[in-house]
Amino acid sequence: MRVCVVGSGGREHALAAALARTATVVVTPGNAGITTLAGDLPITCSSDAPEEIDADLWVIGPEQPLVGGLADRLRASGRPTLGPGAEGARLEGSKKWMKEVLVAAGVPTAAHEAFTSPDAAEAYLRGMRPPYVVKTDGLAAGKGVLVTESLPEAIADVREKLAGRLFGDAGRAVVIEEGLAGPELSVMALCDGIRAVPLAAAQDFKRAGDGDTGANTGGMGAYSPVPVATPEVVEEVMTRAVRPTLAALAASGIDYRGVLYAGVMLTEAGPRILEFNVRFGDPETQVVLPRWQGDVAEVLLAAAEGRLDTVPAPTFPDDLAAVCVVLAAAGYPASPRLGDPVAGVAGALAREGVSVFAAGLAAAPHTDGLVTAGGRVLGVTALAPTLAGARALAYDAAGEVSAPGLWCRSDIALAASTPTPRPPDYEEARP
Ligand code: AMP
Ligand code: GLY
Repeated sequence: MRVCVVGSGGREHALAAALARTATVVVTPGNAGITTLAGDLPITCSSDAPEEIDADLWVIGPEQPLVGGLADRLRASGRPTLGPGAEGARLEGSKKWMKEVLVAAGVPTAAHEAFTSPDAAEAYLRGMRPPYVVKTDGLAAGKGVLVTESLPEAIADVREKLAGRLFGDAGRAVVIEEGLAGPELSVMALCDGIRAVPLAAAQDFKRAGDGDTGANTGGMGAYSPVPVATPEVVEEVMTRAVRPTLAALAASGIDYRGVLYAGVMLTEAGPRILEFNVRFGDPETQVVLPRWQGDVAEVLLAAAEGRLDTVPAPTFPDDLAAVCVVLAAAGYPASPRLGDPVAGVAGALAREGVSVFAAGLAAAPHTDGLVTAGGRVLGVTALAPTLAGARALAYDAAGEVSAPGLWCRSDIALAASTPTPRPPDYEEARP
């Protein structure tokens, strides 16, 4: 089988590596790091448009081409495609519409209201209790959400967004919602229009700094499995959120074939859906796909062809844990410095169980070396029997890679891989 993967980042590299176990993969446009690190795997990059690439299956990574209707165009010419059409992709393209779908389908989510008028939005905020949550309606590269305890900050944010000064037209409507609290999970489900099967849950780290401080980023790391994501929790997310949403889409004539990614908060009242994305998560894919046992290409093709019932469900062994540490360029996220030489990738890859997924990498002019070409430069993923082992291996391998100013968070998967001290047993504690 030949598979065309659309996109250029670490997520697409991880998809390509998993697909290449059983298929030949072309990534468009990909990046120079994917080509350089392919090694013996049947992975190449091409600058041709997806429509011009010869393949048996097209897998679309990022949200922008999905919202722009690439999957519709590919399917219209008979090409099996994993990724929703423009109508389904509106779940991610408009938070306002997503919330309408969730409410209509009875999916548990934060109470909310959508606004285009700054005065009405301000009046609503004044009637709420903190924390205040203000979401940009349209696509904002993962940076459109403000969560704050400060009413003046929330009001200023709403006014800036609605005036088009923060995210242009994407911000001309906002969703204001009740603040929730609890651990977060990413549950990605593969959908074939009718059926949905879950992949392993993951947790990502969106903030730049240790302890979830600092600016929002595209994601600084991830791990899987997630100890709080028990099979019962994942089943509840599937039963109460993913399957009702898929059914509601189908009932309105939307044949949703692709990944439905639920951003979930585990509140004291049960799981609540913060958002749906219409694609694989980045960097969740870099930890979930390496854990997947089985023929990934066969299953993704079955989803694209509307026949998930004909293939084995994906399995993810509990004793195969994955941790991904993202290495970011100097100055990321505000103003990443590009063009710095990157060394030591071969040293990282020399460790058993380690993969390097190239994100913002380009070929250095006149050499066969690599230089930084984006904010998130690469992800180092390690597999080991335990999260603690995978975390230690990922950081050890990441330490091999160097570039001027290259940095990472130091607490990826730390809390999840540190056993919580158990209270002393009452009987034992008695004299
Ligand atoms: P989203 O893009 O909707 O996932 O939001 C980005 C981040 O904002 C989430 O990962 C949460 O950490 C936070 N967030 C979103 N909605 C809420 C909410 N209702 N209450 C508290 N935090 C939220
Ligand atoms: N990791 C968050 C996302 O892919 O949107």
